[in-house]
Amino acid sequence: EKGGYDHFMLKEINEQPRSIADCMRGRLDARSGRLILGGLQDYMNKFQNADRIIITACGTSWHAGLVAEYLFEEFARVPVEVEYASEFRYRNPVISSKDFVIAISQSGETADTLAAIELAKEKGATIFGVCNVVGSSIARATHAGSYTHAGPEIGVASTKAFTAQISVLSMMALMLGYQRGTLSESKYMTLLSELEAIPAKVEKALKLNKKVEEIAAQYKDARNFLYLGRGYNFPVALEGALKLKEISYIHAEGYPAAEMKHGPIALIDEEMPVVFIATKDSSYDKVVSNIQEVKARKGIIIAVVTEGDETVKKMADHVIEIPPAHEAFVPLISVVPLQQLSYHIAVMRGCNVDQPRNLAKSVTVE
Ligand code: F6R
Repeated sequence: EKGGYDHFMLKEINEQPRSIADCMRGRLDARSGRLILGGLQDYMNKFQNADRIIITACGTSWHAGLVAEYLFEEFARVPVEVEYASEFRYRNPVISSKDFVIAISQSGETADTLAAIELAKEKGATIFGVCNVVGSSIARATHAGSYTHAGPEIGVASTKAFTAQISVLSMMALMLGYQRGTLSESKYMTLLSELEAIPAKVEKALKLNKKVEEIAAQYKDARNFLYLGRGYNFPVALEGALKLKEISYIHAEGYPAAEMKHGPIALIDEEMPVVFIATKDSSYDKVVSNIQEVKARKGIIIAVVTEGDETVKKMADHVIEIPPAHEAFVPLISVVPLQQLSYHIAVMRGCNVDQPRNLAKSVTVE
């Protein structure tokens, strides 16, 4: 059942090239420019004319929502708000029938997300679900939706569901940008090819496993970790930190790299591993400056970089080189070594990786 792997989590990490491809199968065909999400067809009008997109979710699914905020704003120029379901539902939020609400949930059973949906529905918004479990409560409570098709996720730490969520949301953003005319035909066609090329790149990134395991062995006894990224990699930093916390019980924090100097920088000393996601994108130079700031304070630098990077390699204690991709789709690749890092550290610390203490796969109580 674990397909030869020691844990479901590792099996699910390794399934990602296939699960992302499964998620796009029959929906995206870059050559012909075809992009279809069955669940969205009847609601395309509402989606296209929405004044605002509100994304609501919890935990890792909320991180996928943050990536989507960047995608929707960049490609479709629509204002987006990403809300923790638990805060949204109790805040008497301003919602109208012109809002398009996207609820993201692997299990489809998260109590707070379900309650947020009911609230937004009462206020007349259109609710779209991005769920993994077919026929789940959230899938049923929404007006329409697109399944992530990642297959059953058994490990409590969400991995393949996260990348499948981002895949669906990326397709939605490209579709919306094209329909609203904020993406030109040629840009749209290029982005479709870029997205279609992701599974093969994830396959390549998975080969870094040995290297990541060696890094894990060196820092498995650290008491704290900091994860930093900017732009599309900011949510990846949050996700990397959450993965480490939940399965290895090491305290970790994710931050947008620029926020470091507003507080977290005080934590940095020679004992503090700092994981930077520093791929070649529009914020690369800024991230390099942040790496310099950590280095000046003797922090240990572990950097996820783009293959062939020379600048960061000279500064970092360890680099993990991932294949280049369009920056909007880099999270699908850059999160993979962070999943592996948390996995190996947890195994080395003797933790129950698939069933971490105090956590459940579906949080059906608020
Ligand atoms: C993280 C994790 C949790 C879930 C959260 C939402 O690895 O498992 O943070 O992401 O409880 O769950 P779903 O997506 O099922 O609504």
